[in-house]
Amino acid sequence: MTNQPLNILVVDDEIRITSQLAHHLSKRGFNVFEANGSASAFKILASRSIDIVLLDFMLPGDMNGIQILKKIKQDYATAEVIMVSGQEDIDIVIDAQRQGVIDFVRKPFNISEIIFAIERTGKYLHLTNALKNAENHYSLISRELESSIEREFIGISAGIRKVTEMAMRVAADQDASVLITGENGTGKEVLARIIHYASNRKKKPFVPVNSTAIPETLIESEFFGHKKGAFTDAKEDKKGFFELANGGTLFLDEIADMPFSLQAKLLRAMEERRISPVGSGKEIVVDLRIISATNKLIEKLIEEQKFRLDLFHRINTFTLHIPPLRERPDDVEPLLRHFVEVLCSKKKRSIPEISSNVITHLKSYAFPGNVRELRNMAERALILSDGRQLTIDDFMIKNDTISKTESDTLNLDENEKMIIETALRQTAGNQIKAADLLGISRDSLKHRLQKHGIVISKTVE
Ligand SMILES: Nc1ncnc2c1ncn2[C@@H]1O[C@H](COP(=O)(O)OP(=O)(O)OP(=O)(O)O)[C@@H](O)[C@H]1O
Ligand SMILES: [Mg+2]
Repeated sequence: MTNQPLNILVVDDEIRITSQLAHHLSKRGFNVFEANGSASAFKILASRSIDIVLLDFMLPGDMNGIQILKKIKQDYATAEVIMVSGQEDIDIVIDAQRQGVIDFVRKPFNISEIIFAIERTGKYLHLTNALKNAENHYSLISRELESSIEREFIGISAGIRKVTEMAMRVAADQDASVLITGENGTGKEVLARIIHYASNRKKKPFVPVNSTAIPETLIESEFFGHKKGAFTDAKEDKKGFFELANGGTLFLDEIADMPFSLQAKLLRAMEERRISPVGSGKEIVVDLRIISATNKLIEKLIEEQKFRLDLFHRINTFTLHIPPLRERPDDVEPLLRHFVEVLCSKKKRSIPEISSNVITHLKSYAFPGNVRELRNMAERALILSDGRQLTIDDFMIKNDTISKTESDTLNLDENEKMIIETALRQTAGNQIKAADLLGISRDSLKHRLQKHGIVISKTVE
């Protein structure tokens, strides 16, 4: 904290007292402001940053000392109040203490008592400020640390290097719409965040939205907001995603699954850069970047008339495709090391060694759940391991079932089917557990079961 002189507000109805105090305190190097009533006191509090208020508790007027104190503590919480009173009433003193008075000087006072109280309070302010600064400093560091972990896009393969390089170029143009494609768990959301935080919009919000999670009846008001009373449940004005993301980035996840009816409204909002909340006659101007993501082939959906071609053109000024992990085995080791380090530091454990055959095996594994699956594997292995070394056993890798090179076929579809069947067998047909084991969502598992025509019987063994 700097050694700037403290700002002191002296409140007393007698001008003689305030001017005498001002004279003495100024001589001591304090900045002094005088008020002879509550109204002028609050005017000063509103316009200056006051450190200490010397408050005469017997002010005439419509507010008594306790009421003034309460309002100061409520509206100007950083100001400390020293109570000055001729009243001996212990109840008032106790009440004032409860309301947060820091010190008490009895009237009539001599100037040294006042100075003593101010100096003591000044010391206290100095300490609490130093503490607050330290706390802010550390919370800033930990916030940065946390977000930098989520903002690292790990990978050394040519495919990933190309994607990250493109992402940096795209980030520099703060208005360009970006479409990120890639299978489940390839890191589409991580990449979207990286673009946001590398752009000029980084100080404004990054708002991720998955429209498939919102009931269709609410979708318009969730996106564009609503006015109080616009419909029965609209008890308050509500900001929509567009307004929440204003200035920053709106991340539209699973864009291919967006209801057709919303697609036209979304296109209009993107083109006009304006939205109108449900039930409001007014339009709000918005300025944001839209990043969308999908694991589907939008071109196919356009053919099937499930996705609007005009919206597709609007969202993909740039397309970034993240290749599946099985196509970039070089990334397996750095990713695994990264996850092990992050997870160990979170759990405050020392980092174990990784057996070299673990990496060899993982590099030949097909990873239907991509990087998310690898992360889940690392998490499970750390729980199972002895703490010193991560071995094949900890990864529950079965050479005969999941290795893509050692299986009879290199056909991806067939291997995917086989892996899913293995996972179902290992979990006795429990879809939730199987999806978790595979590192994919339950919906994604269902979709794949349909695709491969796998029928589940709980007795699979
Ligand atoms: N290159 C990477 N570097 C570091 N972590 C990554 C990388 N790619 C993915 N991850 C991690 O993998 C997990 C899945 O990433 P993310 O949620 O971004 O995938 P996604 O493509 O959006 O998946 P989905 O299609 O299922 O929504 C996260 O835990 C993320 O931190
Ligand atoms: Mg995602």
